[in-house]
Amino acid sequence: MKASILGHQLGFEVSGHSGVPLVLIHGFGLDRTIWSAMIQAHFGDQYIVLPDTLGHGESESPQGAYPMLSLAADLAGLFDFLEIEKAIVCGHSMGGYIALAFADQFKDRLAGIGLITTRADADSQEKRAGRYAMIEAIKEKGTIAQAEALAPRLSFDEDVIQHSMRLLEKANPQGLIGSLQGMAERSDRGDMLRKIEVPSLVVAGECDQIVPVEEAKVMADVLKDCTFVIIPGCGHMPMMEKPQMLSEGIKKLIKRVEAQ
Ligand code: MLT
Repeated sequence: MKASILGHQLGFEVSGHSGVPLVLIHGFGLDRTIWSAMIQAHFGDQYIVLPDTLGHGESESPQGAYPMLSLAADLAGLFDFLEIEKAIVCGHSMGGYIALAFADQFKDRLAGIGLITTRADADSQEKRAGRYAMIEAIKEKGTIAQAEALAPRLSFDEDVIQHSMRLLEKANPQGLIGSLQGMAERSDRGDMLRKIEVPSLVVAGECDQIVPVEEAKVMADVLKDCTFVIIPGCGHMPMMEKPQMLSEGIKKLIKRVEAQ
């Protein structure tokens, strides 16, 4: 499905009818389909919203940077379109940066938060420089530059690497560039975590090459009402590598929210 949200055509999918709405936001260069197999196998009739963030999947890819706060505002716009007052927002990696920006800006619409193989810190100078270098590489060589640099680091599972490679390769180059700029310029939300009052979940992959377990643990230590899950043998893509374990964590978060 598509809707016009804050002046952009955004792709999304809605499934199920029961329970508090659950939003799952994909990471950089991917799209909403990364969640499909997991939700079909493990979530029954749970009401789930899968957005494609700006520049990804079926969403349009305008010129310019995509600040995390704008992507959070897009999500709030999608809530309005779907008449959702509050939801549990779970974000994977870049989706986690958006979830944290949403918690920062739209806390009244947050029923719970799930931070999946992601971090609250802003980029280091080195990381930021790497993103700007990648922008130049994409302009020169196309999306293959990003696909080759990122896909092999996402997982040790060859099928997951190949699947991610395909998504990254077919991504819109402008979408990747706008997202890289937005991530490079994002604020540090380490301190903001202290203000989150709703139940939270932090998920780390034991073998994640992008967000080390220790970095995820820092968030879990700061959050007030948090469950921390380390998924054994898992890389950066638990929704594909270990869908059952990730689902168990998310379903426990839903129960905690619904018990409040
Ligand atoms: C992601 O998986 O969303 C990205 O690797 C996150 C990042 O580059 O910081």
